[in-house]
Amino acid sequence: MAEDYQMLKGELMRGKRGIVTGVANHQSIAWGIASQLAAQGAEMAFLHLPGMERRVEPLAESIGVKVLAPVDVTDDASMDAAFAKVKQAFGTIDFFVHAIASANRDELKGSFVENTTREGFLRAMEISAFSFVDCARRAAALMPQTGGSIITLTYMGSERAIPNYNTMGVAKAALEAAVRYAARDLGPKGIRVNALSPGAMRTISLAGISGGRAMLAKGRALSAMQEDTSMEGVAGAALWLASDLGRSTTGEVVHVDAGFHIMGFKEDEAAES
Ligand SMILES: NC(=O)c1ccc[n+]([C@@H]2O[C@H](COP(=O)([O-])OP(=O)(O)OC[C@H]3O[C@@H](n4cnc5c(N)ncnc54)[C@H](O)[C@@H]3O)[C@@H](O)[C@H]2O)c1
Repeated sequence: MAEDYQMLKGELMRGKRGIVTGVANHQSIAWGIASQLAAQGAEMAFLHLPGMERRVEPLAESIGVKVLAPVDVTDDASMDAAFAKVKQAFGTIDFFVHAIASANRDELKGSFVENTTREGFLRAMEISAFSFVDCARRAAALMPQTGGSIITLTYMGSERAIPNYNTMGVAKAALEAAVRYAARDLGPKGIRVNALSPGAMRTISLAGISGGRAMLAKGRALSAMQEDTSMEGVAGAALWLASDLGRSTTGEVVHVDAGFHIMGFKEDEAAES
């Protein structure tokens, strides 16, 4: 439910317009973020994968999103058309949320070395990392002289070797490097570029990873707070970065994972020796 993510209602995004990509259903991280931004007065356009209309349109309508366009990030013509539609509707945008990733399902399991194919590797890199660069260039071109905020979504599998995450971890490492380079390029224009790194969350993307449930369980058990990553927390961090509250933060990877990434080993394991 959209209301679940509305930790606070207010005016932080009043007068701001932006694009949110990656809404596939009510569990999508992009949906949690969009719901929070809408609760703070943002006006948005949704760019969704072609064929998702039946699911995306009612969600969009429920939070007052009127501009929707299909986009497949591997297809330049659809990118051109979608960004042109937003330009026509809004003129300029103040924020952009990139919440897109994909890899071949049979490469998100088992041995990284044995299972990674050239085609699968390049596909994961194109959809999950290059698409961010392409979107950042197009979004920056729509931002006013006062600047803006670009946010993407990553996962700690970029920093550490997580079972089954495999090719996607490599793509996320490229994505995080791309965030730093884009932040450096766009900083002089007042455009901030950051990544949020949530812990495992129950979405369609997680279901595509072998052992996704174990990722959720481990994320909970091994995190400092010993709890799941909440959509409210991720959406709240996105609000901070998208709004003027995030003014001086750029090039960062912000972990929103209940402290999963800071942990070494658990105390009971230490006590065993
Ligand atoms: N779910 C998690 O545990 C988790 C944790 C950390 C980061 N993330 C990241 O969050 C982001 C959003 O994922 P999610 O978990 O909300 O799952 P999701 O499946 O709801 O979202 C992924 C989105 O990518 C879109 N997409 C895939 N290929 C596309 C293409 N060619 N063109 C346009 N759109 C395309 C899908 O339509 C979908 O909307 C991803 O980058 C994911 O890696 C997820």
